[in-house]
Amino acid sequence: MNQDELFKKLIAHSKEYGYIFPSSEIYDGLSAVYDYGQYGSELKNNIKRYWWEAMVRLNENIVGIDAAIFMHPRTWEASGHVGAFNDPLIDNKDSKKRYRADVLLEEHIAKLEEKVEKEVEKGRRKFGETFDEAQFRATNPNVQRNVAKADEVRRRMVDALTGNDLEAVRQLILDCEIVCPISGTRNWTEVRQFNLMFETKIGSVSDESSTIYLRPETAQGIFVNFLNVQKTGRMKIPFGIAQVGKAFRNEIVARQFIFRMREFEQMEMQFFVRPGEEMKWYEYWKAARIKWHRALGMGDENYRYHDHDKLAHYANAACDIEFNFPFGFKELEGIHSRTDFDLGNHQKFSGRKLQYFDPETNESYVPYVVETSVGVDRLVLSVLANSYCEEKVQKDGEEGGERVVLRIPAPIAPVKLAVLPLVKKDGLPEKAREVLSELRCDFNCQYDEKDSIGKRYRRQDAIGTPFCITVDHQSLEDNTVTIRYRDSMEQERVAINAVRGIMDEKVSLRSLLNKL
Ligand code: GAP
Repeated sequence: MNQDELFKKLIAHSKEYGYIFPSSEIYDGLSAVYDYGQYGSELKNNIKRYWWEAMVRLNENIVGIDAAIFMHPRTWEASGHVGAFNDPLIDNKDSKKRYRADVLLEEHIAKLEEKVEKEVEKGRRKFGETFDEAQFRATNPNVQRNVAKADEVRRRMVDALTGNDLEAVRQLILDCEIVCPISGTRNWTEVRQFNLMFETKIGSVSDESSTIYLRPETAQGIFVNFLNVQKTGRMKIPFGIAQVGKAFRNEIVARQFIFRMREFEQMEMQFFVRPGEEMKWYEYWKAARIKWHRALGMGDENYRYHDHDKLAHYANAACDIEFNFPFGFKELEGIHSRTDFDLGNHQKFSGRKLQYFDPETNESYVPYVVETSVGVDRLVLSVLANSYCEEKVQKDGEEGGERVVLRIPAPIAPVKLAVLPLVKKDGLPEKAREVLSELRCDFNCQYDEKDSIGKRYRRQDAIGTPFCITVDHQSLEDNTVTIRYRDSMEQERVAINAVRGIMDEKVSLRSLLNKL
């Protein structure tokens, strides 16, 4: 199955099995807005808990808050979002499709880089054991030509975007001979800036002064509360403030399912440090965050760093942690060194001092900030994409045929275990309910007695339940059950009173947090 097919199947599966539905679907949905169903919301909650505990519980110097979505409109002037939170957009006159100009250019660069990697692979196959990759990259004319082209396009793009020179952005698209994927033509409009913030009105009088914004990032709720938290929590620098919450962006190109949404959720942490120490902490958080992702066990090779070519208006260093999605490596999390831009500007715009008195240096200063920012929805997508698997079943004790299984890491799986009486008679359902009542306060469990045991296993596989506890006739005699493992389909007989301990070890978040 190619990655395109996998992605389509994943979207269909997410809907069919109660993970993710298009928003207001009975009215034909709303573009780039999605609802999480009964399993999707459990998965999301588990991911959020994993993040929160890793941040707030494991770090003595990080605390969590929950700020409002609505903020004073001056917030967004100070943060630079009113003036600069724009995407450059361009339309194709023939297809009438709208694109982000920077994304068209980045995709063009990615294609050139792909050509380079293909050429290197060709060389590797041709020369076998004697292949010297460094020398090949330095001397092969095709590689050199495409590397030079990619570098040149990147340089011109960064210059044009940094200088807000929209005509130069358009010219670069024309020079690169980029065509619209729908119409296949190069009939492009001018490039225009488009602000991504959603506006709404507050109060009963609707005029200019009542315009407020739905927050496009949760971070500003942290900045405006910097002193509140520092003073009430008696926090000493370096310290962090964490938050999980909704953010809203009127994305121009909203596609790829829940990868780019108009309403989404972020988990952000602002780490306040001494000026001059930000690079040390930037490196620290880069390493800590990729470790957090990799602890999920979805393949270390599926994560990589990508340094930003063009820095956001607030950053002096920035990188993404990218994940290998079905549509390629794309941003999962951003790590940004935001300098004193935000606190400094809030100080200016509000007229309130936002400084920290450092008892060690006897100085007052506006702290610098290193931010980690990850999208909950992108994490959900990474987990689902990595988990989805179709396979043939050839296992003793299992019905043959095909199964679709979501191999979700057990500590974040929505349903941890299903309790299943082998048959719906002979006192097995009663015994199974006894087992269930022993476990359901500790774990999210399901009980199912309908259909054959094979069909029930398939249903649990499809929603990613890592363990099935089967109650059979032997259970009535010796108080044992079998644990059936989702991934291997192996079964193990254990005493009923040992089940809770075994499950706890396998599904508790502790197993992830201990790896950090
Ligand atoms: N406070 C910094 C900030 O918001 P960002 O790189 O714009 O930085 C951080 O966003 C993270 O939020 C991204 O890495 C991504 O995971 C998530 N995110 C951003 N826009 C999104 C969207 N439209 N849909 C889903 N997730 C999004």
